[in-house]
Amino acid sequence: MSEQEPERRRMYELVSQINYHNYRYHVLNDPVIGDGQYDELFRELQAIEAAHPDWVLPNSPTRRVGGEPLEGFEKVQHPRPILSLASVVDIDGIYAWLERIAKLLPEGVTVESLAFTVEPKFDGLTVVLDYENGLLVRGATRGDGLVGEDITANLRTIPGVPLRIPVEAGGPPAPSRLVVRGEAYMPLDRFEAFNRELAESGEKTFANPRNAAAGSLRQLDPRITARRPLAVYCYAIVDAEGVSFSSQWESLCYLRAMGFPVSSESARLETIDQVIAHCQQWMSKRDTLNYEADGIVIKIDDLAIQEGLGVVGKDPRGALAFKFPAREATTRLLDVVINVGRTGILAPAAVLEPVELGGITVQNATLHNFDDIERKDIRIGDMVRIKRAGDVIPYVIGPVIDLRTGTERPIERPTHCPSCGGPVTRDEAEVAMYCRNPACPAQAVRRVEYWVSRNCMDIVGLGTRIVEQLVDAGLVRDVADLYALTVEQLLPLEGFAEKKARNLIEAIAASKEQPFSRVLAALGIQGVGVTVAELLTTHFPSIDALAAATQEQIESIHGMGEHTARSIVQWFADARNRTLITRLKQAGLQMEVQVGEQTPPGELPLAGKTFVITGTLPTLTRDEATALIRRYGGKVTESVSAQTDYLLVGEKAGSKLTKARQLGVPVIDEPALHRMIGIAEE
Ligand code: IVH
Repeated sequence: MSEQEPERRRMYELVSQINYHNYRYHVLNDPVIGDGQYDELFRELQAIEAAHPDWVLPNSPTRRVGGEPLEGFEKVQHPRPILSLASVVDIDGIYAWLERIAKLLPEGVTVESLAFTVEPKFDGLTVVLDYENGLLVRGATRGDGLVGEDITANLRTIPGVPLRIPVEAGGPPAPSRLVVRGEAYMPLDRFEAFNRELAESGEKTFANPRNAAAGSLRQLDPRITARRPLAVYCYAIVDAEGVSFSSQWESLCYLRAMGFPVSSESARLETIDQVIAHCQQWMSKRDTLNYEADGIVIKIDDLAIQEGLGVVGKDPRGALAFKFPAREATTRLLDVVINVGRTGILAPAAVLEPVELGGITVQNATLHNFDDIERKDIRIGDMVRIKRAGDVIPYVIGPVIDLRTGTERPIERPTHCPSCGGPVTRDEAEVAMYCRNPACPAQAVRRVEYWVSRNCMDIVGLGTRIVEQLVDAGLVRDVADLYALTVEQLLPLEGFAEKKARNLIEAIAASKEQPFSRVLAALGIQGVGVTVAELLTTHFPSIDALAAATQEQIESIHGMGEHTARSIVQWFADARNRTLITRLKQAGLQMEVQVGEQTPPGELPLAGKTFVITGTLPTLTRDEATALIRRYGGKVTESVSAQTDYLLVGEKAGSKLTKARQLGVPVIDEPALHRMIGIAEE
């Protein structure tokens, strides 16, 4: 034994080191060693343990990889009931709750005098972790609240779940008993990657991260659970011996000090007004998190008061869930229509049986493209899951295969443009399909719609219906035709009386006063949105100057992208576009910068702010976004740190987004950047 002493001591050291690094990585998101070093320590420990199986410690990190499969789950009686929560869906519901509890508060305590903690309502699977003298001895599901199922072997595999507390030497001493409640979940980025892997290997995907987490934890074989990207957030102490807490906030601080993952989004707020402001703010924040939160949990901070209020059924009176509107629903896919975009792109769109989603009735949704439809095997007649995130148009996640009846029909790829009947082409590099007919009426409608839109020429009174009428009647083939319209031409059209016709002609005429940068944006050149147009006009003060510019000259504008520069040059090289410009000039539109119109303004809106950019932005290339931010006084750096003020994200954002979320760096999208600069309206 004495000869083995150093080896055994080394094993202890390795266990505590690896557990510490695991905690740095998975709980603090702040690793201090690299993956390679970690693996080396891990292998060293495995070797010692393999040579001395009787030495293996109960908190050894090697025990996270999952033990032998179980026959079934044992039942576990919880030490105290694992309660549920009453929920409300609007601010009035919060006031009603306060009114109810006001009457039940102890003598001398008023609602106004209460402090609250607010926490995200994690949308996962409730778990109960039981520690005896610092060691994790049991982990269970909630079950019916009184009796749950023993999933210890599975919970041990979740990296953030401490096997022994305190995780860090120097933490509070371990109490004789601590029972902690938390929510196991699957981080969104990992969920998406996991589902992609499942799809690629032909396996069934999970409808949402919640199901994925629940399904992963209910595996009888813990080795399967170990391979699932699960995480946990802890938010309550169910029972404790040898330690006590007077407030919820204190118990969260204690959990954090012990090494449990506690959300940094939790806060203690002094007044109910702050709580309400917090709930309202969170609606938008929700989309920036790397986990699903379906609401905010409001808890009376003082635990004696909270518990003293008692329970109604399974719901404690001292806490309340403020639920966000649902963002997913299931409905039937009735049909698929194909929309022709401004550039001729053929975009499939779902026609749905109307369904309530997040407070609105949804009957249309995006289907990304035909490759996506085929990959997900979406069919007409399917029951489909739809999702709405933030303000964006809902999209179809995929079919609910289990609800198929056999009468569903596959969705056919178009062979001809649904508007002009022209042939459909497909770019090698792109998944999108296009109609390349320049005279296609649907494209004309889209171009005019874009031209008149609020950020471009801002012509009111020209809705889609009217634009279609004008195109169908042969009065408008391109945007220059708008300026030749007369009241007499409009009068025969359905719905046009003298006054309406006159108003429209006046609105069109008024748009001739719009500044050059808007005209430039309205042309719809690929990559030239409102912001880039502004940038261009500061260097090329007239349309002729821009038309004469070479790709190199355009690119040489600080940070201007190659792709956009090429698309501008190509646009002006097209004779049809040059004719259009000539006609627009003749019509009297602003084709050069007017005195006093120069930007940027004196006080730069982004002064002193540091940005990091990630993902593909909808209209700006990375270079353009960088140039724009610099132009308005901001700075752009490569990597996200505590010094970053904003992360600007586009599609397919990667690890920078994860990092920003971890650090609590505000995440904004391109429209938000435009608003900050003051180019776009709210
Ligand atoms: S506290 C006494 N806090 O939401 C208070 N629950 O719909 C009881 N949940 O079953 C619960 N996040 O599992 C609490 N920060 C949080 C939570 C949370 C998610 C779950 C919880 C409960 C369900 C209620």
